[in-house]
Parts: sequence; C-alpha cells; structure tokens
Amino acid sequence: MTQQVALVTGAGGSIGTEISKALAGAGFAIAVNDIKAEPADACVAMLTAAGHRARSFLADISDAAAVNAMVADIEAEFGPLGALVNNAGVPGPFSLLVDLDDDVWARTLNVHLTGSFYLVRAVARRMIPRNVGRIVSIASVAGLRGTVGSGEYGAAKAGMICLTMTAAKELAPFGITANAIAPGMVGTEINRSLADQGSRFIQTALDATPDGSLVPPADIAGLVAYLCSPAAARINGVTMPIDGASTLEMGTDSYMRRSLGKRSPFLKGLADDPSA
Ligand SMILES: NC(=O)c1ccc[n+]([C@@H]2O[C@H](COP(=O)([O-])OP(=O)(O)OC[C@H]3O[C@@H](n4cnc5c(N)ncnc54)[C@H](O)[C@@H]3O)[C@@H](O)[C@H]2O)c1
Repeated sequence: MTQQVALVTGAGGSIGTEISKALAGAGFAIAVNDIKAEPADACVAMLTAAGHRARSFLADISDAAAVNAMVADIEAEFGPLGALVNNAGVPGPFSLLVDLDDDVWARTLNVHLTGSFYLVRAVARRMIPRNVGRIVSIASVAGLRGTVGSGEYGAAKAGMICLTMTAAKELAPFGITANAIAPGMVGTEINRSLADQGSRFIQTALDATPDGSLVPPADIAGLVAYLCSPAAARINGVTMPIDGASTLEMGTDSYMRRSLGKRSPFLKGLADDPSA
C-alpha cells in the first residue's frame, strides 16, 4: 500500500513540529513546509532520526504561485497528499483597532487566511478525483470570541473557521473532511518561559482558564492525528476548542472560583484529610 502523505505548513514552529511528529507516528510521510529553512530542516532531521519519511518544501504560503508549485512538487516527488494541516502563522504586535497598522492587518490576513485558502484550493483540486482527503486548520479561540489587542489575528482566525465550514460542505461529496481546532494559550517554549518569568499577561490568561494550565502542543497534535484518521470520516465542518474551557469563562468566574474555593467546607475537608 502507498504511504499517505501529509503537508504541514509552518511545520518548523512549535506546534507544527509537534503535529508533524504525531502524524508521522500515525503513519503519514510528512511534507514539512515553512518559509524558513532552518526550522524546517530541524523538523525533518527530528522526524528522519525517528525513522519517519519526511522532506522539507520551503514556500511562502501567502504566495499563490508558490503554493501551487509546492503542492505539485510534493505530489511529484513524495506521493499523493492525503492530509493538509494549515498551521503556519505570524505573530502580530499588540495594538488597539484604532492604532492598527495597515501592513500588520494585511500581513496577518495574507498568511493565516489567504494562505489557508490557497492551500485548500490547491490540495482539494488533487484530492477530489481520488475521493479522499483530510484538511485541518489551526485557528484560535481569538477567532471565536475576538481578543483585545489582536483584532487582525482574531479576524483572520474567524475567516479560517468560515473557510473550514465552506470547504466541509463543498468537499464532503468527495470524501474529504475539513475541520478546525481553536487552541487557547499554548504551552510553547516561549509561553512556558514567559510563565516561568512571572509574565502578567500569561498569568492573567491562566487565571481566566478554569483548569489553570497552558494547552500542551501534544494535545493539539493528537487531535489533528485523530481528525486525519479513518475513524474521523464523519466529523466534518467542526471547530473544536482546546482551551481548558477558557472560552466559557465569564467576568466573575475566576474570582468566584477562588473565593468559594477558599470557603468550601467540602474542599477544606479534603485538604485536611486527603484520604476522605
Ligand atoms: N502559540 C499559541 O499560543 C497559539 C494559540 C492559538 C493558535 N495558535 C496558532 O497555531 C499556529 C502555530 O503557532 P506556533 O505557536 O507554533 O507559532 P510559531 O511561530 O512557533 O510557528 C509558526 C511557523 O509558521 C512559519 N511561517 C510564518 N509565515 C509563513 C509563511 N508565509 N509561509 C510558510 N510558513 C510560515 C514560521 O516560520 C514558523 O515556523 C499558528 O497558526 C498560530 O496562530 C497558536
């Protein structure tokens, strides 16, 4: 049987590398895309050292011609694409909408949203005649709720979620599914090190997350692998948050958790006698 191939964009980054590892573990050969050679090569080296088949395909996903050429190269040199993971992304400087720079808006929308569209289009054209395929896009809770200081990012991620729903409806007749994942604050190396340094930004995010933790990149990767598996054939057009329930949080929740938690006779009893 021919080995299935998965294309992971931004695979040199923290989450992309973890996704590549999980998909390789699930039996996919990995087409490692990034705009930067060094992180892509590191991801390929990690995968091949673990005995997996992987190759780097450098391209700027916000360039339609580069995306079409990359997808053609992958299929010519590596085999038919069974899965696409839209993961590449760019961080933006925080600013209010009233201060938001045109270039930041354009760059963010171009990479996250337009780039994902170019990839969905290029890959779907090849998957349709084969009647099989999986598309997973890494959105964000910012795309579900908006977020102060990252208006361009939230808008781009909301666009990816809508692109996912349209792709699901248009491609389902051809055995192709399209789903999105909306992570909360992820425990990447940068975020973990900020947390260790006592960053108020990260601490505030954790306070507003009922389980009080950053999302492990491996949790996102595991869900991607599941959505790309035969078992997930009927899951289509869904956006699944992985956020420790932070999107459910309301204004007083964190205060009430702390204050009632301190006074709860049951929790007090548990602390006094953990065996109870
Ligand atoms: N880190 C978080 O807390 C978090 C939360 C929710 C969603 N996300 C999303 O997850 C995805 C991965 O995030 P990450 O934290 O691993 O980021 P990262 O910066 O570690 O990785 C992103 C990768 O994308 C690559 N890239 C950037 N522009 C590109 C382009 N035009 N073409 C090809 N590759 C390009 C970068 O070189 C980088 O290797 C992003 O889409 C991000 O928005 C991240």
